[in-house]
Amino acid sequence: MKLLVLGGTAWLGWTTAASGVTAGHDVTCAARGTNVPDGARHVRVDRDDPDGLVPLADTRWDAVIDVSRQPGQVRRATRGLRTDRYVFVSTCNVYASQAEIGADESATLLDPLDADVMTEPGDYGRAKVACEDAVREVFGTDRSAIVRSGLIGGPGDPTGRSTYWPRRFAEPSNPEGVVLAPDAPGLPTALIDVRDLAAWLVRLAAGAGSGAFNAQGVPHPLPAHLDAARAAAGNRSETVTAAEDWLATQGVNEWSGPRSLPLWLRDQTWYGMNARSTERAVAAGLERRPLESTLADVLGGPVVSGAGLTDEEERALLAQLRQ
Ligand SMILES: NC(=O)c1ccc[n+]([C@@H]2O[C@H](COP(=O)([O-])OP(=O)(O)OC[C@H]3O[C@@H](n4cnc5c(N)ncnc54)[C@H](OP(=O)(O)O)[C@@H]3O)[C@@H](O)[C@H]2O)c1
Repeated sequence: MKLLVLGGTAWLGWTTAASGVTAGHDVTCAARGTNVPDGARHVRVDRDDPDGLVPLADTRWDAVIDVSRQPGQVRRATRGLRTDRYVFVSTCNVYASQAEIGADESATLLDPLDADVMTEPGDYGRAKVACEDAVREVFGTDRSAIVRSGLIGGPGDPTGRSTYWPRRFAEPSNPEGVVLAPDAPGLPTALIDVRDLAAWLVRLAAGAGSGAFNAQGVPHPLPAHLDAARAAAGNRSETVTAAEDWLATQGVNEWSGPRSLPLWLRDQTWYGMNARSTERAVAAGLERRPLESTLADVLGGPVVSGAGLTDEEERALLAQLRQ
């Protein structure tokens, strides 16, 4: 297959292009940067330039995989490129509600962003809806695959959301090896391994399925996720849980970033975000490795600074909790 990856210089796009090369396809990556996998061709394009896709226009592709979040970039690509199939990487943030557990792809979407360029991070979901619309407008549902990804994890995770817990268990902040976690027994997590997602995107490009798909990992409530992280790290010590209200009063952040407990979400009307139905994706060939295997594979990788609690922060919080 003659495959064009629009992107290919960042985490998922790079892994997807590498997966395409491994599967024996003829892969071209198009981006401003040049860091593409061995075996893939690189074409420099600037998708913010209205004529930026000219270097690609003369080629006929079997499939395009696009990771953009900018509606204008996707509109220009869907109208300007010659391809049989279009695979678009979207997000579960396109849904209007994140409350329902087990919702499928027919759930109501946000209104599309009415602009070519998303400037506010809070418009991410609406921008992706506009991108999805642009893809369907040209390729319909038969010649397109819209992959609404949940939280991606695994080696190379630039956000640290999938690396914090196994590293925390592997390198505790304190001699007892105790790890601080939120007391959120029902909080769903569903990490999809970047390599599994990438391999499936390539299979979709080759025609494995069409239409919209939720692509999330196998669901694990937070305590089971932490058990998998502990097992991956070979740590046998206890997790100390703290009440969510207490953590909030201590200025501990949710989900990601500095002074956070990654993956933690307090608002139960967001519990459905990581608990969507993935039946369609699995039926179309999405294969997911065990969570413990993903978490084991991030050990030994680089520490992501500004993700989670520092050692000092965790020790101070544990001391406060014991008072
Ligand atoms: N991380 C998660 O947990 C998560 C969850 C759900 C969905 N997603 C989706 O997963 C995807 C992540 O993809 P990723 O890691 O490969 O990429 P990314 O970090 O979103 O990077 C965007 C890619 O597009 C290229 N690009 C950006 N602006 C460009 C321009 N003006 N002209 C040409 N190329 C341009 C970048 O290359 P250059 O900068 O080199 O040009 C880069 O390769 C995104 O679609 C994201 O929305 C992520």
